[in-house]
Amino acid sequence: MCGIVGYIGSKQAYPIIIKGLKRLEYRGYDSAGIAILNNQIKNFKKQGKVTELEKHVGDNDVTGTMGIGHTRWATHGEPNDVNAHPHYSNSGNLVMIHNGIIENYDVLKKELLKRGYTFQSDTDTEVLVNLIEEIQKQEKVDLAEAVRKALAQVIGAYAIVIMSNNEPNRLVAARKSSPLVIGIGENEYFLASDATPIIEYTKNVVYLNDEEIAVVELGKKMQLFNIKKENKTPYIQELELNLEEIEKGGYDHFMLKEIYEQPRSIMDSLRGRLRANEGIVQLGGVLDYEEKIAKAKRIIMVACGTSWHAGLVGEYLFEDLARIPVEVEYASEFRYRNPIINEDDIVIAISQSGETADTLAAIQLAKEKGATIIGVCNVVGSSISRATHAGSYTHAGPEIGVASTKAFTSQITVLTLMALMIGKKKGTIPTSRFHHLIQELALIPQKLEKVLKVDAQTLELSHIFKDVRNFLYLGRGYSFPVALEGALKLKEISYIHAEGYPAAEMKHGPIALIDEQMPVVVIATKGASYEKVVSNIQEVKARKGVVIAVVTEGDEQVKEMADHIIEIPETDDILVPFISVVPLQLLSYHIAVLRGCNVDQPRNLAKSVTVE
Ligand code: G6P
Repeated sequence: MCGIVGYIGSKQAYPIIIKGLKRLEYRGYDSAGIAILNNQIKNFKKQGKVTELEKHVGDNDVTGTMGIGHTRWATHGEPNDVNAHPHYSNSGNLVMIHNGIIENYDVLKKELLKRGYTFQSDTDTEVLVNLIEEIQKQEKVDLAEAVRKALAQVIGAYAIVIMSNNEPNRLVAARKSSPLVIGIGENEYFLASDATPIIEYTKNVVYLNDEEIAVVELGKKMQLFNIKKENKTPYIQELELNLEEIEKGGYDHFMLKEIYEQPRSIMDSLRGRLRANEGIVQLGGVLDYEEKIAKAKRIIMVACGTSWHAGLVGEYLFEDLARIPVEVEYASEFRYRNPIINEDDIVIAISQSGETADTLAAIQLAKEKGATIIGVCNVVGSSISRATHAGSYTHAGPEIGVASTKAFTSQITVLTLMALMIGKKKGTIPTSRFHHLIQELALIPQKLEKVLKVDAQTLELSHIFKDVRNFLYLGRGYSFPVALEGALKLKEISYIHAEGYPAAEMKHGPIALIDEQMPVVVIATKGASYEKVVSNIQEVKARKGVVIAVVTEGDEQVKEMADHIIEIPETDDILVPFISVVPLQLLSYHIAVLRGCNVDQPRNLAKSVTVE
């Protein structure tokens, strides 16, 4: 998500920063900007690609040996020229770039508005840069100290680089939960979100730790201190990676990187919305529609592909927790079948890209009939997010691998929060269960870290199964959509035929396919349908099928029956999809790699399907 580049030295900053921004393009972005300081700050910003920014800069004079640049992936406010970074403070003396999300930006903004500040953009970044300015004004401190004091008031994630007309020889940078690395050259410094823009100039880098602030100044050693004002010694490391490896964060493919990002992306989806200790679940984007959703007689989920599977999880959640009947519709079917839509219906449109043509058309149809449309999208400012009445972004960061992984778990994060919020409002969740669920939800990122340890085991299994021609995936209840998603992942990237089925339905058809050649992946975690799934495993074994069971840690019963087991951490029944989907993602990934498939760009598939 977003890319940061900064330079201070004796070379021209503009070409270095532009090249650096291009190096960061793989992270995904929707607008770009650059500010150069040469006596006076000059700032250029443009929606679209870095090449658009270059055209926009055109013949303007951008000479100068110090500057900052940014590629923005929208979180607050649409992707447009105004919301692009860098952002000026009101006086025009400060200019700043930022990655991450300032959760309490609204409170800070209100305070600044009272003090007469005005805002051009919808961003949280502009709030922070003005807060820094206000602190400098009130307390007459230098830039670094003002940054420290401002960050002490901030809740959320940030990586920032800031420069000031009044301190023209230094850049100040800081990080918390968003990466920032500083390259140390010969009397020059490079700052970036990762080492890709830096590696061609120097191999000596310092990775900032959370809540650390760095000051880099020409002719001086880097100063490093933390938010508590304690001095730190920069730990200089030597980069060993090559460029290609760094873009993928050391992973072989974007898909694997994105699978591994899930603890973090779920945390980002929860950020500012779940306060487990205070018993608060609040999705700001749908707050105005809370009452309406709570009163709805029916919810219709519309989506395609993996997002449709997330919708199925949403169906179970909303019916379970908020007691509202839910229908889950393939957008392409819904739009063409003259569906019955009432004015008090709530339509939840789920889409990673926010551009899927069928989902967009389904929304338009439902809107014409007077329904209220709530979006669950990943891409801020996308067509679907603009077409909806309200919504919640998933904040999973750009997903580059065509097969969706982290977007799915972020979608179910938002749907879980929404169902909990509405259930609480309606009083359909007993208080003790509500508190138990939100505590458990808060633990999901941690449990995901743990489940990722099954990676090596899924690789071993992949060696065994890479050459089979068919796979069956079974699950019941909340694990049924996961079975569908597991099968979809496998066929998308490995081209092995796979079907997902509700475990009990197996005997109405797919059981005929089962023999000793047929691997059957069964999600058999402890919970309401455990005993029933155990019976289904026995039915498979009786026909000599090969069972790969995903079980709760410490399970003994299934272990005795299954050919292979993958143990995952225990959680509440309704949260199992978060955890059980991970081994299935990894299994598909490894099988596809072993089969020599193009994992990130599987044949015939597109990331964003903008045609019907
Ligand atoms: C394509 C992608 C899938 C995605 C589906 C829906 O088929 O390959 O990964 O699930 O579109 O996309 P959306 O962006 O609407 O979630």
